[in-house]
Amino acid sequence: MIKQAIIPLAGLGTRLLPLTSVFPKELLPINGKPGIEYILDECIEAGIKEIIFIISKKKNMIKNYFNNDIFFKTIIKKKKDKRISNEYKKILKYKKMIKFVYQNNPLGTGDALLKTKKLIKDNYFLMLLPDDLIIKKNCSKAMISIHKKYKSSVMASMNVDKKTVSRWGIFNVKKKINKHNFIIKDVVEKPSQKDAPSNKAVIGRYILPKIIFKKLLKQKSGKDGEIHITDTIQLLIKNDLKFIGHNFAGKYLDCGTMNGYIKSSLEIAKI
Ligand code: UTP
Repeated sequence: MIKQAIIPLAGLGTRLLPLTSVFPKELLPINGKPGIEYILDECIEAGIKEIIFIISKKKNMIKNYFNNDIFFKTIIKKKKDKRISNEYKKILKYKKMIKFVYQNNPLGTGDALLKTKKLIKDNYFLMLLPDDLIIKKNCSKAMISIHKKYKSSVMASMNVDKKTVSRWGIFNVKKKINKHNFIIKDVVEKPSQKDAPSNKAVIGRYILPKIIFKKLLKQKSGKDGEIHITDTIQLLIKNDLKFIGHNFAGKYLDCGTMNGYIKSSLEIAKI
């Protein structure tokens, strides 16, 4: 069973400046609800019991959001407003599940993941990148089913426009299992259009094996001087670990760019 999820939140969010100059992007409202709550709800519905947040000192506001008990208790006592007590109950439910670790220097997603090494209990865990919202269908839940069936690591994937391949991790297929699931042959971080092995992009949902930590300890920095999980995953694949790319059924919303962030509110409002 996959019981733990990791959410890296220690990045700088430069693509959403100036909104992110003082405010963590994960707390920005999407149709009236902080983006991170959509991710938490996806985890809970998928059966996750513990969630590890990787934050930085600069993003302590995220920790405060889930730990503002005195404020809520005082207001609830004064106002006796049902809506506020319900919101507080929801935050308490999240809070019970969340642990915090720190990555104060954003050296990349691989480096962020390494900070959780001591907290991972089982052989596999889920990792979600909070900029990537997937609505209408629970992607994590579907991936957990695939993991159970094939006893392998799984990454969410999507066919993208060839012109945009340099924004993503791109993989090529060793074997097609069925219309939606593929055994991965190679994965490469943000290739140029010329070097891209396909147009199959990795989206921010991963079921990863605990063994990845051993490799991460030795992982050198890659593109833009960052330590990317994609590079470590490629090493694991070359060591014969099975990784399945799962073309998910839901709708993808990229909340990490200004355009995408604005569009995501409009899309969610339509549901
Ligand atoms: P991104 O690189 O897409 O986001 O990282 P970013 O760095 O926050 O934003 P930009 O690119 O400057 O606009 C994907 C996820 O990984 C986290 C980010 O917080 C984001 O949720 N991350 C990234 C870390 O936790 N640590 C890092 O060193 C890098």
